[in-house]
Amino acid sequence: MRIVFIGPPGAGKGTQCKRLTTELQIPHISTGEMLRATKDDSALGKMVADYIDSGRLAPDYLVMRIVTKRLEAADCVSGCLFDGFPRTVNQAQLLTEHLKNQGQQLDLVLDLRVDQEALVDRLMKRALTEDRADDTSETIEARLRIFFSQTAPVLEYYRSMGVVHAIDGMQSTDQVYASIQDAIGTLD
Ligand code: AP5
Ligand code: MG
Repeated sequence: MRIVFIGPPGAGKGTQCKRLTTELQIPHISTGEMLRATKDDSALGKMVADYIDSGRLAPDYLVMRIVTKRLEAADCVSGCLFDGFPRTVNQAQLLTEHLKNQGQQLDLVLDLRVDQEALVDRLMKRALTEDRADDTSETIEARLRIFFSQTAPVLEYYRSMGVVHAIDGMQSTDQVYASIQDAIGTLD
């Protein structure tokens, strides 16, 4: 099973994927986490930090290279959860092509919907306990803007493929999880 999680910053993509990866026994592929892990003193590491710490999207070619390499691993054979990827229509088209070449396709795209006010509130709260360089009010605003301009069109792309299922992300984490399970249940 291959599921894409799309939602603005703070929508709960990571929270839900961490739980679902255990239940479905398929890997959780978070491009945000993979990019954060490449931050170091090398030229590439500094370039990545420059993008993600300011909330701008990393270049498509770099993200595609990281993702396609990850998909080659044996644990991805029976599927995976994509968290925060694809984030541009170009990435979505390249993913479709890549999966097609492998004789694979996406089963479901989850559209996690949360009010903007709640998103900011969640991320400002998280900033108190976690050390993410992009959880500042200025960068959160930039991330939200970029989500609506560059990532929301990805949902339109997938809607035309008929695989999108909207999830009310304003519910409690347990209720959101149950809604995701229901969406997966409709696939059988
Ligand atoms: P990424 O790491 O993907 O960050 P994001 O999209 O901004 O989303 P977050 O991780 O902040 O939020 P989330 O939806 O995972 O929510 P979470 O579960 O943590 O990307 C970071 C950066 O990397 C990007 O800005 C970009 O620069 C770069 N990047 C990544 N992918 C890329 C790509 N494909 N192409 C180019 N660049 C890319 O929850 C948030 C908080 O809310 C937590 O504290 C949680 O406990 C709480 N919470 C969760 N659910 C609920 C709930 N139902 N009710 C109340 N609180 C909740
Ligand atoms: Mg996340």
